This record gives sequence, C-alpha cells and structure tokens, in this order.
Amino acid sequence: MRDPLFELEGRVAVVTGGAGQLGRVFVEGLASRGMQVASFDVASAGVPEAAREYSVDITDRSALSSALEDVVGELGTPHLLVNNAGLDSPPDAPAAEVGPFEDVPEQAFDAVMDVNVKGAMLCCQTVGAAMAHAGRGSIVNISSVYGMLSPVQDLYEFRRARGETYVKPVAYSVSKGALLNLTRYLATYWAKDGVRVNTLTLAGVWNDQDEEFLAAFAARSPMGRMLDEREALGALVFLASDASSYVTGSNLVVDGGWSAW
Ligand SMILES: NC(=O)c1ccc[n+]([C@@H]2O[C@H](COP(=O)([O-])OP(=O)(O)OC[C@H]3O[C@@H](n4cnc5c(N)ncnc54)[C@H](O)[C@@H]3O)[C@@H](O)[C@H]2O)c1
Repeated sequence: MRDPLFELEGRVAVVTGGAGQLGRVFVEGLASRGMQVASFDVASAGVPEAAREYSVDITDRSALSSALEDVVGELGTPHLLVNNAGLDSPPDAPAAEVGPFEDVPEQAFDAVMDVNVKGAMLCCQTVGAAMAHAGRGSIVNISSVYGMLSPVQDLYEFRRARGETYVKPVAYSVSKGALLNLTRYLATYWAKDGVRVNTLTLAGVWNDQDEEFLAAFAARSPMGRMLDEREALGALVFLASDASSYVTGSNLVVDGGWSAW
C-alpha cells in the first residue's frame, strides 16, 4: 500500500506547459499517482495522453477563465497548480536577444516577462482563486537557479571561443527571480484559505546539450552533472501532497548543490 502521506489519488492538477520537457514528466508522474491532470499549453504536440489537453495561452486571462471553467466541469476544482510554462532563450535565439546586456531589445525582455511572470500571476488569479474559494490547494511555481543567483556567464565561454556573441539574457533571470516573491506574496495572502504556495527551484536539466556546455556545467556543479528530468518529480509530489501540509512560502531547491558553494 502506498504511504498515504504522499497520496494524490483522485485529486485534480493543472500543469501549465504540459507539452514541454519537464511538463511531460510532471503530467505523467502526477497521473501515474492517480491525479486527474489538465495541461494548459499553447503547443499541442507532446502533451502526454495521460493529460486532458487545453489549448491555452497563459497570458490571456479570458482563455484561462474559460479553460478553468471546463476543468471544473469535467474534472472538478483543482487541488494543484504547477506554474511550469515558461520561455527561455533557446540556443538558436536571435543574436540581439543573446547579445550584450546594454543592447537587449525591450520586446525580447517583455516577451519573457509576459509569459514567465504575468502568465504565472494570471494562473494564480484564476486557478489559485478557485482553490482558495474551495478552501484547499497547492501552487508550485517552477523557478531556476538563474532566478536565485546570477547565471554563470563563463559556462557559455565555449560559444564565444567559436566567435559567437553569447550572453545569457537578463529577462530569464529577472522573471524567475520574480516567482520567488510571487510565491511569498500569495503564501501569506492565502495562508488562512488553505492554499499553500511554494517555489520549486531547479538547476539546468540535461537535454542532450552541446558537449562543451555539458563539460563546463559539470565543472561548476558539485555533483558534476545536470539534473535528470525525472529528478524534479519527487519534490513536486512532496509539495503537492499533504506531506508538505505546513510548508508554504518556501523555496525547495533541487540543484545538485549548485547554490551550496
Ligand atoms: N530546462 C531547464 O534546464 C530548466 C531549469 C530550471 C528551471 N526550468 C523551468 O522549468 C519550466 C519548464 O521548462 P522546460 O525546460 O520543460 O521548457 P520547455 O520549453 O520544454 O517547455 C515549456 C512549455 O511552456 C509552453 N508555453 C510557452 N509559452 C506559453 C504560453 N504563453 N502559454 C502556455 N504555454 C506556454 C511551451 O509551449 C512549452 O510546452 C520552465 O518554467 C523553466 O524556466 C527549466
């Protein structure tokens, strides 16, 4: 028999970005523990069959409200919201976006802030509010070590050595840092309404990156490697379940020791 402390059977989850690398793992991991999972994503390819899929842009409040109405009607009021959808600058991002800080275009900054900060806030305003109304729930905001600490620009030295201009952009860091205080703000705001709000901070996830990047990352990481995508699930299950019933406003760091030195 499963330990009831971590029991999630029969509860309802909304995972944003369920089509992405981590979102897929979260959807499948929660569904395999008996949760009914809804994915809110702009992409459809990649959402696991275990999820009920909603095509939602999380920066669109009315789209969120209407998707939530469908979730409540079809699955019930959510018990868990995982604010996982996010934008980062991909390795092939336009040069200006990954150029010197002094020249970062405003639109590139706005686009990331819009999804990573406003999108998460709107998900809390809609899904979180429904949970507060029901008097129970857990919100998990997915952040990054780059939101807690500055990016280590040296990790990208190998790209500069090839003649590319590459600076890890400011918007991602600022947006992920903002989630830490969205968490604290809402943890206190909803504390007496039974909704717990926590940040889950992750280090870089292995995704078949460039060998030179992997080597630079390993040299900086106490554990000498990136996070395997499956290693974020245990912390999410903890924050989602009653095992964390007195944990709110916190930041659970799963970083292989990245922030320990
Ligand atoms: N991959 C990493 O190394 C890493 C490290 C630390 C934290 N994180 C965080 O984990 C989360 C997931 O990252 P990932 O690597 O799986 O990313 P990913 O790019 O694989 O997935 C992100 C998902 O979000 C969706 N999305 C983007 N904009 C959206 C919008 N406006 N509305 C709805 N959905 C939208 C995308 O379609 C995609 O499916 C992000 O918040 C990221 O910041 C990732």
